[in-house]
Amino acid sequence: MNREYTLGEYVEIINKALSDRLYDVKEGQLVVDAMRYAVENGGKRIRPVLTLEFCRVCGGEIENALNFACALEMIHTYSLIHDDLPCMDNDDYRRGKPSCHKQFGEEYALLAGDGLLTLAFETALADGNSVSAENKVKAARLLARLAGVAGMVGGQVLDLQSEGTEASLEKLSGIDELKTGALIKAACLLGCYAAGKTDSDTLAKAETYAECVGHAFQIVDDILDVTSDSETLGKPVGSDVKNDKITYVSLMGVENAQTEVDRLTEKAVGALVGFDENTDFLKELAYNLAHRKK
Ligand code: IPE
Ligand code: IPE
Ligand code: MG
Ligand code: MG
Ligand code: MG
Repeated sequence: MNREYTLGEYVEIINKALSDRLYDVKEGQLVVDAMRYAVENGGKRIRPVLTLEFCRVCGGEIENALNFACALEMIHTYSLIHDDLPCMDNDDYRRGKPSCHKQFGEEYALLAGDGLLTLAFETALADGNSVSAENKVKAARLLARLAGVAGMVGGQVLDLQSEGTEASLEKLSGIDELKTGALIKAACLLGCYAAGKTDSDTLAKAETYAECVGHAFQIVDDILDVTSDSETLGKPVGSDVKNDKITYVSLMGVENAQTEVDRLTEKAVGALVGFDENTDFLKELAYNLAHRKK
């Protein structure tokens, strides 16, 4: 049986792995400084935690999932750098510090995002673990698809296009599924690939969990944008109203939005049956994310 990890242990492992991989980059000093600035400190590391834990519950060694986990966090961080740019959400504060473009300028923030996106694929495909070449290629292809126009990038497009339009449940769930759900799905599925557990039944269960947690995650993000404060969140509140975004809160109010989060969370937890190892961590994580304060 594999050893179990706490959330704190996972975050420590991930932070060290990310720093190691970023310090390996020797070229392009200023842009690498901007990449490190954006990655280091402050992030909750939910996506890489999901990758490591899905690997573990599938019977794999978490060391084999570390490259995939880092790749996920690099892509997520790039998406945040670009999301904050003046041409996007125009937010000046992220992870408790000035946003990357406020610190390094827009041109370097843009390039730091590009650098992280490409470093993610170099990392996912690197040697040094026992994931088969075939599973690495399949995982990288899936990651590319879910990060790109059929996934996160496509969701950001829909998010931009929705500004100032009327909200509907259908429109919102389509946006959230792509802009946030896609990377969370990639995180869970890549954990299964790292463990070499790629049968359709396992992938389908991981996908259901990921879809529900991903959707709930964005709804809570929208709730916190109106109920929290920027010191707690480490990013500005009121960003969605400022940008005339459609959100679950704008459509149905905070209370009903939270009810939807709770429903999705129960559905996520219900998908966690028949894994090789105990899934208590994933259950608790889903509940904690549903009621998180940041
Ligand atoms: C923020 O993601 C953007 C969304 C997709 C909602 P996180 O809430 O995971 O941000 P960090 O990584 O903890 O900063
Ligand atoms: C962003 O959604 C999703 C991404 C793909 C980055 P938001 O725009 O709501 O994320 P925050 O609130 O700025 O973190
Ligand atoms: Mg945004
Ligand atoms: Mg934003
Ligand atoms: Mg938000």
